[in-house]
Amino acid sequence: MNQSETVDGPVPMSLLPDSAQAGPRGELQIGGLSVDELAAKYGTPLFIYDEEHLRSRCREALTALGAGTAYASKAFLCTAMARLVNEEGLHIDVASEGELLTAIAAEVPGERIVLHGNNKSLAELSLARSHGVGRIVVDSFDELSRLRNLHEVDGVVAPIQLRVTPGVEAHTHEYISTGQNDSKFGFGLESGAARRAVESCASNPGVELMGIHQHIGSQVFRADSFARALEVVVAFSEPLGLPELSVGGGLGVAYLESETAPSISEWGEMLREACERLGVKAQVSAEPGRSIAAQAAVTVYSIGTVKEIPGIRTYIAVDGGFGDNPRPMLYGSGYTAFAPTRFTEPRNSVARIVGRHCESSDVIVQEARLPANLDVGDLIATPVTGAYGYSMASTYNRMPRPAVIFVSEGKERLVIRRETAEDLLALDLD
Ligand SMILES: Cc1ncc(COP(=O)(O)O)c(C=O)c1O
Repeated sequence: MNQSETVDGPVPMSLLPDSAQAGPRGELQIGGLSVDELAAKYGTPLFIYDEEHLRSRCREALTALGAGTAYASKAFLCTAMARLVNEEGLHIDVASEGELLTAIAAEVPGERIVLHGNNKSLAELSLARSHGVGRIVVDSFDELSRLRNLHEVDGVVAPIQLRVTPGVEAHTHEYISTGQNDSKFGFGLESGAARRAVESCASNPGVELMGIHQHIGSQVFRADSFARALEVVVAFSEPLGLPELSVGGGLGVAYLESETAPSISEWGEMLREACERLGVKAQVSAEPGRSIAAQAAVTVYSIGTVKEIPGIRTYIAVDGGFGDNPRPMLYGSGYTAFAPTRFTEPRNSVARIVGRHCESSDVIVQEARLPANLDVGDLIATPVTGAYGYSMASTYNRMPRPAVIFVSEGKERLVIRRETAEDLLALDLD
């Protein structure tokens, strides 16, 4: 198949959730349910997650990365998701009071929660300690002082890891690159801050130093970026003789026909080989987020207007936009699109899919290949929206956030209801 045939063909199954299949009308089904019928029932925009896909990626992560592997909940979180992750035996990484309270609401045991954040408040640290959170990943000297001060009050000793920045470029977008020296995250290895942080733990009665943590960035495809960071961090961490080493998350996923990404199993194998080669004795764990959630979901929109500008382009405006998917605007991320009711058809026409927010940058797909003659009222979907979509959603222009459903074996359940105008007004005071 040549390049143009690939581009104009139906959306590749590799970008869709595991259970995706064509229904009797040529429509997309996920979890045995027709996407257009779900859209009619729940309205659009709608996030549809394949629950079995999520579960299978959690299991793959546990097998490939070992006990102690945590799901990075910033990728996508709600109570049902935290419960699912817990049922599948993963720990959960939270990075705010809100994420922590969601894990608590889902009855995730404290010892299976890892707390992150480059500026954790006293309230967040207190809540984590009182809930017996398994690991606090400490990011700064100020945080070490806060833990010392809290200990003076209640005598609780927090088991911690120290987040270090290895000084390695992750070959990803600069906004999601975190392992370089010039970063707001962690203690720099090169500057000596990491060494001083380890030393200060020895005289801090509020902490028990269990290990070193690194996270070099997100949407990283290159095995050599992970391997290089590990080399640098292991040279620092192993001589300390600490029991744990966390390699963070960051494995990239394919969003487009033209992209390929290592599987979680391949990533695990690469990390295992690198750790073996480097003689790591510490127990190694990881924190995948995107690679578990991204391909599990599609977002379904309804077309509201079609505007043809002769000789220039066609704009198709849908009922969502950067409020439900800010990644194109934030990082210039590419997406593909398809029509869920004509899912098996070739995609022979080209249009720009835009949202309905009052910004020209509100573009969901710059050059979308779609079946010809789509019109107002038809559905359009974007695949691979399960990570950093809903979790980054906003209410700009006072547009309510979409509903989220999980589907599995012919049944759906609403896990986040659609936000309403009343919800938006609920915070306003006269
Ligand atoms: C500390 C930490 N761990 C894990 C992750 C998850 O990364 P990803 O979703 O790319 O796997 C992130 C994402 O930013 C992070 O900051």
